[in-house]
Amino acid sequence: MKVDLDKNYIRQQLINNATQYENGDSMNAPWVEKYRPQTLDEVVGQEHTILRLKRYVKEGNMPNLMFTGPAGVGKTTTSIALAKEMLGEYWRQNFLELNASDARGIDTVRNDIKSFCRLKAVGSPFRIIFLDEVDNMTKDAQHALRREMEMYTKTSSFILSCNYSSKIIDPIQSRCAIFRFVPVKGHQIIKRLEYIAQAEGLKIDIAAIESIVYFAEGDMRRAVNILQASSSAGEEVTEESVDEVVSKAKPKDVKKIVNKALDGDFIGARELLRDVMVVQGTSGEDMVTQIYQEVSKMALDGSLNEDIYINLVESIGETDYRIREGSNPRIQLEALLTKFLINSKAD
Ligand SMILES: Nc1ncnc2c1ncn2[C@@H]1O[C@H](COP(=O)(O)OP(=O)(O)OP(=O)(O)O)[C@@H](O)[C@H]1O
Ligand SMILES: [Mg+2]
Repeated sequence: MKVDLDKNYIRQQLINNATQYENGDSMNAPWVEKYRPQTLDEVVGQEHTILRLKRYVKEGNMPNLMFTGPAGVGKTTTSIALAKEMLGEYWRQNFLELNASDARGIDTVRNDIKSFCRLKAVGSPFRIIFLDEVDNMTKDAQHALRREMEMYTKTSSFILSCNYSSKIIDPIQSRCAIFRFVPVKGHQIIKRLEYIAQAEGLKIDIAAIESIVYFAEGDMRRAVNILQASSSAGEEVTEESVDEVVSKAKPKDVKKIVNKALDGDFIGARELLRDVMVVQGTSGEDMVTQIYQEVSKMALDGSLNEDIYINLVESIGETDYRIREGSNPRIQLEALLTKFLINSKAD
């Protein structure tokens, strides 16, 4: 029992340290921590989720929750903000954050839950246990977790976080109110980056911000990290300084490759593709994703005919699959470019 208590103490210290970062106490804190929203109101986007959670705060009661969605969109941030608002000034004592895929094993995680739940809640009516990465737990471990959830249901609420709810067993899903977190929208990321840039006294042009949004793909953590990394190089953040820190192809280059291929210039498109992959070091997977983004953009703004778009997406999907299965990315991408030629002629 003593050992378990000590472990909990250490975890609380970790949370306290994180809080120091959040409050900006440390000059060298990574910006993702320094600018982690502190309240539900500060969380960017996720409007439906936030609205429902605020209702729980108002009622002073909440069921077990499940947060699902892609990385870096605010699941952990929202749980901490919710805990603070639900539990008030004693939130730290009554909030336990655990990672379900903890290297020390699921038994350790369950012991931590047990020893935490056995203690009486201090200063608030119940406790909140936040369990991250639940989709990495085996089915057996999930069944054990379900029993724990039932045992402590009077005194504790669980927030389970995962990327894919389909990997969670039904008995757990049915015990939780499910909240789906979505990628943060481009205009919301822009606003947030502008806010951070201003607070840091950074000069940044809109082209650079748009480039960050393009690379972030709705992941706010990635957006803030790219901003911080590109700012350390010099005072002004430009499109070039952003491109330098991201080892992906420049949007301009991808556009050129796609256009050349659609214009029937296979050799030109292939040369540029080689340049981007060899010189800039873009991976095959990233390249396919970026080609897909570019083609989708063209279909949206009407510069690509819908039938051609449908054909291309089919080919892109196949290329993506083959590369992931281990085929040579260069050969696969060049083969993809030939599909563009065929389609341009069909136009
Ligand atoms: N919706 C958001 N509004 C404002 N900042 C955000 C948002 N989402 C993420 N961030 C920023 O990104 C950081 C990481 O977010 P968070 O830990 O909440 O992501 P997550 O959804 O839990 O991701 P993962 O699935 O990887 O655990 C935060 O500290 C914050 O700086
Ligand atoms: Mg998280």
